Amino acid sequence: MNGTGVHSKPAVNTKGLNGTGVNGKGVHSNGFHHVSVNGSLYPAKVKSRRLRWDVKPSEMANNTLNPIRAIVDGMKLTPNVDKPMIALSIGDPTVFGNLPTDEAVLQALKGAIDSQKYNGYAPSVGYLKSRQAVSNFYSCPEAPLDAEDVILTSGCSQAIELAISVLCNPGDNILVPCPGFSLYKTLAVSLGIKVKLYNLLPEKSWEIDLQHMESLIDERTSCLIVTNPSNPCGSVFNREHLQKILKVASRHCVPILADEIYSDMVFPGCHCPSIASLSSDVPILSCGGLAKRWLVPGWRMGWILIHDRNEVFGSEIRQGLVKLSQRILGACTIVQGALESILNNTPQSFYNKTISFLKSNSEICFSELSTVPGLNPVMPSGAMYLMVGLDMDHFPDFKNDVDFTERLVTEQSVFCLPASAFEYPNFFRIVVTVPEEMMVEACGRIREFCQLQCVESS
Ligand SMILES: Cc1ncc(COP(=O)(O)O)c(C=O)c1O
Repeated sequence: MNGTGVHSKPAVNTKGLNGTGVNGKGVHSNGFHHVSVNGSLYPAKVKSRRLRWDVKPSEMANNTLNPIRAIVDGMKLTPNVDKPMIALSIGDPTVFGNLPTDEAVLQALKGAIDSQKYNGYAPSVGYLKSRQAVSNFYSCPEAPLDAEDVILTSGCSQAIELAISVLCNPGDNILVPCPGFSLYKTLAVSLGIKVKLYNLLPEKSWEIDLQHMESLIDERTSCLIVTNPSNPCGSVFNREHLQKILKVASRHCVPILADEIYSDMVFPGCHCPSIASLSSDVPILSCGGLAKRWLVPGWRMGWILIHDRNEVFGSEIRQGLVKLSQRILGACTIVQGALESILNNTPQSFYNKTISFLKSNSEICFSELSTVPGLNPVMPSGAMYLMVGLDMDHFPDFKNDVDFTERLVTEQSVFCLPASAFEYPNFFRIVVTVPEEMMVEACGRIREFCQLQCVESS
């Protein structure tokens, strides 16, 4: 056994099977270990063997940490038995059954199953026809796309994983919004990539503190992540702000990973161009999917749109993405088979209905909570979330947002995610997809909770 507890293989210096060269370590020059069937390459007698079982999780597994779990698992969440629990914490719009997907989406999937055409393996990047459907759907004159620019993935999460993996090496760093979606850090850290958090400004509707962001860029910054519309803020950047972000990226030649899973989920009156449609020189990998706009997160359909301005990514990044997609075949073939029909046949009225529901619930929540002393809700412009600031001077009995949200469960059976889970203390996040009556009830309970705290501490 060698120092690492791994069996030492006897050195073999021969031309292996099929005449392929094998080096002194029994490893082919192409990196494949040589497997012997008759034992002639590796005689039965081994020098040593392990004496006991010692199976440990890999470093990568140990370094894979979900900050939300780290916070929530440490919380004592014992609801008040007299009040039914209302969870305003779950970013899954399907849990309460009040936001079903459209009939056209269901028909598309049923059609794909019944056709029996999508039971086999698809190419690792997805069926050409399905990629074509996505490129047609998102192509615009300012940011034209064709099928070759689309890679289908298992949800937007895999799209983000492929994008980070193709752009970054261990030791590189990525710029990530704070507060921001926790997956970026979970993936990056497990890959040995450093994360630098840039600030968003609640007083400016969560726009990026551009100076801060720019100050973080160094020679090992390999990508800038922009989430628009935002989870957890529900904010939507306007054209001017997106142009300023592009200027920073352009000045430092840093590509952008645009997380646009909430694209087009913006409230009426608010305009949200894709960042790629404004870019003249910055290459962008835009990650999206069916989960939120089509209200089917469990179907695990996502995509990367490759917007390669001036051929900066060139064939190398494209090839890299193809190679990475071959590690595990990504998107479910049945959903791929349904994709064209989903994108082409979902009526505009379905999107409008979802948006007006989200807006109305956000308004209820905002107007209810903005009159509660000590709470500072920030009105969202899209997505499915609303952030509430906590003026801790009003709540001297609480240590922080975790303490506050924990006691809110104990006393009022309302669970909101403390924004410490997004590395942004003294805020909490509300998911606005719950049925309206639940939202009203939850806001009433939050009000009562805050008023009682103020009375008790005065
Ligand atoms: C900002 C953001 N990006 C990506 C995802 C992941 O999407 P999917 O469920 O398609 O993997 C989510 C899910 O909540 C999200 O909020």
